[in-house]
Amino acid sequence: MLDKTVELKNGIKMPTIGLGTSLRHKPNKVDNQQFVESVKHALKIGYRHLDTAKCYNNEHLIGQAIKESGIDRKDVFLVTKLFPDDMGYDKTLKAFDKSCKQLKVEYIDLYLIHFPAKLRGQNNDLEKSRQVRLETWKALEKLHSDGKCRAIGVSNFMQRHLEEIIDAGMTIPSVNQCEFHPYYNNRELYDYCTKIGIQFEGYSPLGKGNLLNDPVVLELSKKYSKSCAQILLNWSIRNNVVTIPGSTNHERIEENFNIFDFSLSDEDVGLLWTLNKNEKVSWDPTNII
Ligand SMILES: NC(=O)c1ccc[n+]([C@@H]2O[C@H](COP(=O)([O-])OP(=O)(O)OC[C@H]3O[C@@H](n4cnc5c(N)ncnc54)[C@H](OP(=O)(O)O)[C@@H]3O)[C@@H](O)[C@H]2O)c1
Repeated sequence: MLDKTVELKNGIKMPTIGLGTSLRHKPNKVDNQQFVESVKHALKIGYRHLDTAKCYNNEHLIGQAIKESGIDRKDVFLVTKLFPDDMGYDKTLKAFDKSCKQLKVEYIDLYLIHFPAKLRGQNNDLEKSRQVRLETWKALEKLHSDGKCRAIGVSNFMQRHLEEIIDAGMTIPSVNQCEFHPYYNNRELYDYCTKIGIQFEGYSPLGKGNLLNDPVVLELSKKYSKSCAQILLNWSIRNNVVTIPGSTNHERIEENFNIFDFSLSDEDVGLLWTLNKNEKVSWDPTNII
């Protein structure tokens, strides 16, 4: 059976499935109230892990949904991310406080650096980029030691970005959140993180929907009598990858959560690994220096 939680480096438990809340993929965005209702629905049916970010512009709505859900804040594993333009020691501390205010919480369960470099400027100067990353990471270490976040991690970091932190003798990130689905399986980075004990977390697990008509996935859907989305999410968790499918549709939110009553065979897990096309659906950190 599938694990419902993983244990991070520092011993805290993280639910293996969370609700993705970036609404950028929506051609017709839901309105704020519908969004709040979708998050409350997720909490009602059992999700205990929400993934947001400053740049999703919905932290205030997530905070509202948690309050209105009646579920104790401490029972929700809340993840938010530092916007790349806020990198740097002082700016990070300020941005963190602002995120907490928006979310109406005193602490964050997992705070991530969203992307390895600022979006504007400095991208051609490796030494400056490295310094900004390390200063930012130092700020996250402080937030962690001050008890303001239970775990700290990164997102979209390549192996070389992780090595900078390790070489500087700083705390190894608990999590690296990266694109992960059968068309972009990120194998080398996944293997590296797994080897050194960084929990791999996969975003866009359905390839933003692109994988839902794949013939192999459709075949497995028939074989297990599960939806294509459920096959893909089961595959993530079978590989010990925390997964955060995004939806605002109540039925699909439920469907995505109902994946714990079956387990793909080792052979079928292996089959899905062979579908890789190095085809990304999200932003590309591979050339960030
Ligand atoms: N760290 C980063 O840089 C980063 C980058 C991208 C994403 N993320 C995070 O990862 C989350 C998920 O990624 P994503 O939203 O890009 O892609 P995704 O989860 O692969 O796909 C989301 C799309 O699939 C649809 N969908 C969801 N469940 C479905 C189901 N059961 N059947 C059919 N369609 C379904 C959704 O539409 P409906 O809403 O209509 O159901 C939406 O269009 C984001 O919400 C965000 O929290 C992080």
